[in-house]
Formats: sequence, C-alpha cells, structure tokens
Amino acid sequence: MPVITDIEDLRVLAKKRVPRMFYDYADSGSWTESTYRANESDFQAIKLRQRVAVDMEGRSTATTMVGVPVAMPVAIAPTGLTGMQHADGEILAARAAEAFGIPFTLSTMSICSIEDVAAHTKAPFWFQLYVMRDRDFIERLIARAQAAGCGALVLTLDLQILGQRHKDLKNGLSAPPKLTLTNLINLASKPRWCRGMLGTKRRGFGNIVGHVSGVADMSSLGAWTAQQFDPRLNWNDVEWIKKRWGGKLILKGIQDVEDARLAVASGADALIVSNHGGRQLDGAESSIRALPAIAAEVGSRIEVHMDGGIRSGQDVLKAVALGARGTYIGRAFLYGLGAMGEAGVTKALQIIHKELDLTMAFCGRKRVAELGTDILLPGTFPT
Ligand code: GLV
Repeated sequence: MPVITDIEDLRVLAKKRVPRMFYDYADSGSWTESTYRANESDFQAIKLRQRVAVDMEGRSTATTMVGVPVAMPVAIAPTGLTGMQHADGEILAARAAEAFGIPFTLSTMSICSIEDVAAHTKAPFWFQLYVMRDRDFIERLIARAQAAGCGALVLTLDLQILGQRHKDLKNGLSAPPKLTLTNLINLASKPRWCRGMLGTKRRGFGNIVGHVSGVADMSSLGAWTAQQFDPRLNWNDVEWIKKRWGGKLILKGIQDVEDARLAVASGADALIVSNHGGRQLDGAESSIRALPAIAAEVGSRIEVHMDGGIRSGQDVLKAVALGARGTYIGRAFLYGLGAMGEAGVTKALQIIHKELDLTMAFCGRKRVAELGTDILLPGTFPT
C-alpha cells in the first residue's frame, strides 16, 4: 500500500481503481474546463502571512454550519453517482463524515437512497434537492428527507439544464455502465471495483428508480436531466420549497451578488457560493474569487458557504479567511472513496483537517473565528 500524504495521492489511486467513465465523471468540468481549473489555481495564487513565536497550544478547528457543530468548517458536498465511485459509496462516505463530526450531503442523483443512508447512519445527514418538472415527485422527495430526519435541505439552483462535459459523452456515462466491449475491457482492469459492485444491489439511482412511474431505467444522466429537470425553476419555487420543507434551507450555486441578495430575501439560512465545481457555466469566475464580494454584501444577513477547488486544509483556511462560514468538498472525498472506500474518505478528512490545523498554527491563529483577511498577504487575494 503506498503512503498517502495528500488528496493528490488519493486522486492517483482512485484513477487506477475506478472505471474510467466514473473517474472521468468526477474529474471533469464543462466544455474547456476553464472554470474547473480556475477553481483550483485561484486558491494557489492566494498567499499566507507567516507568523512566528505565537503560543500555539490548545488549537481547535471546530465551528458551526447552520447551527450544527462541526469538527472543522467542511461538509461533504452532494455529488451525483457517488455509489459508482465505490460500491455503497454514499453509505460509506456518510459513515466516515459522521465519525469525523462533519455533515454529509446526499445528492438527489445518488445511488444509495435516502432511506438506505438513514438506515446506516445515526447523525442527521443533509439532503440536496434538484427540482424536477414532476412536482408530486419533489413533494415526495421532500417528505422522504423529512421522514429520514435530514438536518438541512440543500437546494441546487444552478442546474436546471446540464453543462456539457465532453468526457461523459465520449464515455457513454450511465449507471450501471452498459456492458459494451470498451467498458468490459476497462472493467477487467478494475477487479476491486467489480467485486464491490457484484456484492451490492445498489447500482441504479436509488432515490428515483421505483419512485417515479414509468422510470425503470434512467441510466443516462444527460437524457434524464434534459427530460425531467425543470428549466422554469425560479425564486417562487424556492419559496414553495422552503414552506414545504420547513427546516434549515441552504441555497447552492450562487456566484453573483445580485442573486445573493435574492437568496437573503428568500429567507434561506445559508447560501453556497458555487459554480458547481466548474461543471456548468464554463467561463464563470472561480468560487474563491466570487466569495469576498458576496460575503461582504450579505454575510451579516445569511451564512455564506463556498465550494469549488478545495483540495487541502490550506484551501479551507483561505476560504474561511475570505468570508466563508463553511466549505464543502466534492472531488476531494470522491477520490478518497474511489481509492479506498470508507477508509479513503476518512483519510481525505484527516488530511484536510491536519493541513488546516497546522496551517492555522503557522498563521498564528488558534480558532476558526480568528481567521480573517489579515492572515492573507495583501495584493494576493480577491477583494
Ligand atoms: C451533477 O450534479 C453533476 O454535476 O453532474
């Protein structure tokens, strides 16, 4: 077993172990992938101020996100097809998050169902909602999340239509994969993954198949999205969903100050500055660049969270310094999951936690609440 020291090690191992179409699904952005790349590289451009001879004893990375105590300002982002990175992936990741003391967010487009994840965890997880044309189905999904005791609803606002990801088209992405000759050849080199998949029944979209009439096989994400996702989604729907849900509401996919103001007006508890991991509007600004203006405009009226490009604890620290109350990791945990299942997700969380803790110390800070722009080198960060 190789020595794993950072998220990049997990990515490399995941690439070896996960069938190409699912690895590519995670590790890709839309069109030219310019936003996907900027999400990461804009973090690198931000420099930290090193402080010395400051008492470092008794540090803590603990804080809260929408009132939920968290071991660090990080939650697991909702990611589609997580149970295709590794058999039973959503259950494994939820368990790792629970043990670590951070929230897990289950995607509508998960493989394991809401009920399945609830049956295998104790801590309330969060549920991410996509709005479909079929409002009865949405009502039932919300009711299922309520019945499962989900602690927050994360409503995604930036995916009424799907950005084009070239690799998914070229690979013929589907869940489960179609047994074409190309796929069979690729699967033959992924024996661990195949063993896992043969040992589980969870191989389709668990929240959907069997819950929507006429949908027995919705293997193609692209086709399903085009047919079922509601392109008319608007702020009136947000109001309707908020009423039906009645619990904590987090709005995901805000990149613009004007939309952030509308998010405040909607009465939501938090918004997530996000460009969907660079998977939707190619050419959008990176999340870390969009964050400071939004935090400055609405941060006193709504919790501002962010995702996009976080591959290290240093990235988490920079996001918090620039006004994020909390952050979400998507690919960073998916790589851990694909590499080593539950242990890999735990490893990803340990890596990020340790990096965050030590980097706080190098910056001379002991508490998350003490992280502000004064730990960043002027001229290197967006304002
Ligand atoms: C779905 O959320 C996707 O980005 O593929």
